[in-house]
Amino acid sequence: MCGIIGMVCKEKFESNDVIKMLKRLEYRGYDSFGIATDSGLFEKEIGEIKAVQNNFCKQAISHTRWSTHGRVTKANAHPHKDCTGNITIVHNGIIENYLELKKQLPKHVFVSETDTEVIAHYLEEKTRTKPIRDAITDFMKDAQGTFSVVVMIKGDENLYAFKRGSPLSLGLMKDGHVIASDIYAFSDKTDKAIFFNEDEFAIVTEKDYEFYRLIGNTLNPVTKDIITVKWSGCEEKKNFNHYMIKEIYEEPAVVERLINSLNTEQNSDLEKMKKLMTEAKRIVFVASGTSYHATLLGVYFLNKVGVEAHAIIASEFRNFYLVDKETLIVAVTQSGETMDVIEALHGMKDKGAKIASLVNVPYSTIQRMSNVSINIEAGQEICVAATKSFVNQVVCLAYLASMFEKKNSVEQVSKSIKHIFSQEEKIKQIAKSLAKHDDIYVIGRGFLYPIAREIALKIKEISYIHAEGMMGGELKHGTLALIEEGTPVLVLMGGKNEIVSNAMEVKARGGRIIEIGGNGVMGEFISIDAEDKLSSALSAAVIGQLLTYYIALEKGLPIDKPRNLAKVCTTK
Ligand code: M6R
Repeated sequence: MCGIIGMVCKEKFESNDVIKMLKRLEYRGYDSFGIATDSGLFEKEIGEIKAVQNNFCKQAISHTRWSTHGRVTKANAHPHKDCTGNITIVHNGIIENYLELKKQLPKHVFVSETDTEVIAHYLEEKTRTKPIRDAITDFMKDAQGTFSVVVMIKGDENLYAFKRGSPLSLGLMKDGHVIASDIYAFSDKTDKAIFFNEDEFAIVTEKDYEFYRLIGNTLNPVTKDIITVKWSGCEEKKNFNHYMIKEIYEEPAVVERLINSLNTEQNSDLEKMKKLMTEAKRIVFVASGTSYHATLLGVYFLNKVGVEAHAIIASEFRNFYLVDKETLIVAVTQSGETMDVIEALHGMKDKGAKIASLVNVPYSTIQRMSNVSINIEAGQEICVAATKSFVNQVVCLAYLASMFEKKNSVEQVSKSIKHIFSQEEKIKQIAKSLAKHDDIYVIGRGFLYPIAREIALKIKEISYIHAEGMMGGELKHGTLALIEEGTPVLVLMGGKNEIVSNAMEVKARGGRIIEIGGNGVMGEFISIDAEDKLSSALSAAVIGQLLTYYIALEKGLPIDKPRNLAKVCTTK
């Protein structure tokens, strides 16, 4: 996934200024990081981003890595250089044909296992006979895959930046420019930004910039709009030990903020979205991970008010759904940058489909690709686990459904979530006892089925315990074979009575039942105080979030940054 930065200024700045910006991109990957400056600093480290040797410079490029090609080693960390050491680059994305390109560079010495290094050598080779601008154009023509790249060249006053697939933006400061994977990197420097579109290339100096777009085989100059960005502020951990628990505790407040905004300033956009939904013959949600689970609830609520809707996981969207001009695609994404979702949306407008989205990060790529977009107002979410953003996605989807027929009340949600917080001690104790297990099962029916899947995902990613979340009715079709004496099964009570029968089948085989929302007839229980489906579903989800948090705490795991993951998945 990775985050990249390039900065060029009139006055000298400190290398650690760039490191501070890089820290804000850490959610994109945190395996290793590195920096190179025009005054000779070249430092790479494995692990968390931390201060580097102080070095005054006028140009710097920097990178935080989520490894794709090559293990987590210093050699594989970015920046990467060509053989001469004159060309230094940082890259986010994947060069799919890097082996093919590498074959064309037999005399070059490669020192890493990355796909990225090929870019530096490719540019070295090409610049033997042509200017860098043409070398980059050639690269953009020859390369397959996704990339946002910043290039720094010894003795050259320009930084060169180009992108396809992966996001890139330019911040305009008083005495210079900063290029970054996202605008939050420069949130303390400027509110003036330019977003790179597909296949754009910029030449950036301290005082100027030029943008070009590759169309066919030629680079064409383009004029770019400068956007004035409204910052919502960067979140602090305050008195909490982890962002995850802080973000869970914010849920009642962010739900209220969202409802207020949907009733007022976002109401006209909601009406636009409702109109698109009414005009469309079919509505299809596209999302990944936790956001996909939210869309399953969206489908449930819309179908209940007579609106046909479907949900498809983004990475398989093209294989499992036919889109035409009567389709409305609704992308649901916290970050607005998930590559699988972006890929699913590509070319859909050409087929005549309309695109709507629910997004948490303003100005994100998916928001900019949409005909209409609603902000879910969860505020910045830093923990890799999606918690408050999930709650607000679901509230927003229920709100939309209620615009067709008033079946859901969104007003009770925050009160029900507060009831869950009042049982924190009990949840902690149950979590402690779950921490020693290798497998946990979660079952639910109807509107609680998506929550079963969501709880299992949380348990896997944060507490490193194998978990399966499934429809209660599916258990007997295979998974029941895995239930042994003491196997914990979280049973999401509510909705249909059949879930009790499913739980009893588990109990009969020695399984340990933990009722989520019940009253303890079959085993331990955590109560839910909710009168409607939306509040019940979200209460169960919050119980799952707290259980996960306390299991991980008991196991001493790195809760906010679980191994192998990143907050934003910008690869396919
Ligand atoms: O930013 P998005 O909502 O598009 O992200 C989708 C998934 O990557 C994300 O929900 C992921 O599953 C979370 N880490 C789960 O907690």
